[in-house]
Amino acid sequence: MVDLDFGPERISIENIHIIVGLSIFYLVIVRLINKILNPTPKLDPSIFKGQKFLAKFNHLLLYVTILLITISGILKKLFNGETLIIFFREIKINDNFELADLFYEIHVISNYLLIVLIAVHILAVIAHKLFFNDNVLKKIL
Ligand code: HEM
Ligand code: HEM
Repeated sequence: MVDLDFGPERISIENIHIIVGLSIFYLVIVRLINKILNPTPKLDPSIFKGQKFLAKFNHLLLYVTILLITISGILKKLFNGETLIIFFREIKINDNFELADLFYEIHVISNYLLIVLIAVHILAVIAHKLFFNDNVLKKIL
C-alpha cells in the first residue's frame, strides 16, 4: 500500500486496511470486556518461578500494542483532517500534520513491536508443547 502512487488502487487498499483495522479495534474491546466477565483460567501450578510474570507480561504487551496500533492509525487519519466513523459516530477534528506524522511513526514502530511479541508468544507456545508438555494450547479452547 505505502509503495503505491496516490490513486484509486491505493485508496481502495487503504479503505480495506481501515475496515479491517477498525474491526480488530472493536474485537479487542469486545475481547477485553469478555475477559473481565470470564477471567482466564489459572496457570498450571507446575510453572517455574517468573513464568507467570513472563506470560502475563507478554499478553499485556500484546493487548497494549494492538490498541496502540489501532488508536494511532485512527489518530493519524483524524489529524490528517479526514473523517472517520467510530462507534457509529462521524468524527472529524482540526488537522495537525505534525501530530499526524507522529502518530504514523507510532503506528509503524508498534507494528514492528507486535511482530516481535507474536514471535515470542508463538515460540513460548511451542516451548510449552515440546519441553513442558503441559498442554497450554488446550487452555484457549
Ligand atoms: C491491527 C491493526 C492494524 C495493523 C496491523 C496496521 C498496520 C499498518 C502497516 C504495516 C502500515 C504500513 C506502514 C509503513 O510501512 O509505512 C500501515 C499504514 C497505515 N495505517 Fe494501519 N494498521 C492497523 C490499523 C489501522 C487503523 C485502525 C487505521 C485507521 C483507522 C490505520 C491507518 C493507517 C494509515 C492511514 C496508514 C498509512 C497509509 C498510507 O500512507 O497510505 N491502520 N498500517
Ligand atoms: C500460532 C498462533 C498462536 C498460538 C498457537 C497461540 C496460543 C496461545 C495460547 C495457548 C494462549 C493461552 C496462554 C495461557 O492461557 O496461559 C494464548 C493467549 C493469548 N494469545 Fe495467543 N497464540 C497464537 C497467536 C496469537 C496472536 C497472533 C496474537 C495477537 C496478535 C495472540 C494474542 C494472545 C493474547 C493477547 C493472549 C492472552 C489471552 C488472555 O488471557 O487474555 N496470540 N495464545
